[in-house]
Amino acid sequence: MNDKKLKTIADQEPPANTNVTPIRNALDLGNYPKLKVKASELFPDAFPDKSYDMDIPQYTPGHVNVMPRNEYYVPPVEVTQDLLSWVKRKDKPFSFGLVGPTGTGKTELPYYLSSTLNMPVYVCKINAATMPEDLEGTQVLSESENGNVVMTEMPGPVLQAYENGGLLIIDEIDKANEATQAALYAILEGKPFAIERFGRTVQQHPDCMIVVTSNTTGSGGDPRYHTSQKLDDALRARIGWHEMTFPSQEEEVNFLRRRFKKLSRPIITKMVKLATSLRASVSDDKSNVQLVISPRTLANWCSAAMMYGKRATLRKSLKVTVFGTIDAGDEETHAAVETALQAVFKGEIDESLETLINRYPCKPGEDDKPVK
Ligand SMILES: Nc1ncnc2c1ncn2[C@@H]1O[C@H](COP(=O)(O)OP(=O)(O)OP(=O)(O)O)[C@@H](O)[C@H]1O
Ligand SMILES: [Mg+2]
Repeated sequence: MNDKKLKTIADQEPPANTNVTPIRNALDLGNYPKLKVKASELFPDAFPDKSYDMDIPQYTPGHVNVMPRNEYYVPPVEVTQDLLSWVKRKDKPFSFGLVGPTGTGKTELPYYLSSTLNMPVYVCKINAATMPEDLEGTQVLSESENGNVVMTEMPGPVLQAYENGGLLIIDEIDKANEATQAALYAILEGKPFAIERFGRTVQQHPDCMIVVTSNTTGSGGDPRYHTSQKLDDALRARIGWHEMTFPSQEEEVNFLRRRFKKLSRPIITKMVKLATSLRASVSDDKSNVQLVISPRTLANWCSAAMMYGKRATLRKSLKVTVFGTIDAGDEETHAAVETALQAVFKGEIDESLETLINRYPCKPGEDDKPVK
């Protein structure tokens, strides 16, 4: 265990004259009792139809590794319901996989789950250079209290989640090299984790849950995700894949309106329409358009528009946030963007934001509609 960390967080003495009992191991999720709560109360966006609901566990707040709440995140209905059905299940048949295009909220969803259910999060971000030892952690030389030099364990995210319980996010699993894929088999199944470097084997904590995110299901050879590897079948079979798609136009407008209150519904709707029409071109086999404006990029576009202020045009913020992803010389994509811009905005893309806000002011009650 990481004794250093535990000493600072857990072993504090209670203030004098109080009856507060300190939690002896503040990292162990087992010390945070669960309450049974209605899912529709904690995730109202994901339960629009009140006739369907379920009881889910919510941990007592206070764990240091719980994510801060992203109040602008709108959890997708079906995947969130599936995720919660999985969370409450004691004998989980698989690790929960979220697969989909970049910027669709695959990483944000488990963060949101953490903040809402008070579950600590441990993130293991995979890239081609990640090695099995990185899942375990490392050892560092440090000085003990009596002045001796000792080796201290610095547990990695997998080991921390295994020992303490919590949500382990294996982010971008399709970037894993062969050696790391092999090391992940046992972990995804919740089998004992043999840590060669520390010479010990750790059993999975009963409150440890594993979510993996990925741009592909590991079939390899996707031209848009060329760093994605072919995952072998044994690994793919240990994951229950759930698809994260682009939100509907209505959902996308709603979450952007929540965050960018000064941009009215008609302005945001035009921005979303541009993204939707370009996404349609990309999925059209006959076109070579390569630009996908993801929900992340749309949020960045809105953010840049607010940053440049009222005198700037929406074309300026679009250029800064989006055009960098178009290859130099890709005339077809540039032309498709221009055509879509004219179809959606007409000349308004080159007018100042101030002109647009005056033309389309925010109206009270315009966001009263529930997310569909
Ligand atoms: N449903 C949503 N509600 C609100 N914001 C969202 C939603 N989906 C995506 N976003 C925005 O997109 C950003 C990117 O989300 P996230 O990082 O989770 O994407 P990702 O799918 O993990 O992408 P990548 O494959 O590149 O890792 C979020 O920080 C948020 O601003
Ligand atoms: Mg991600």
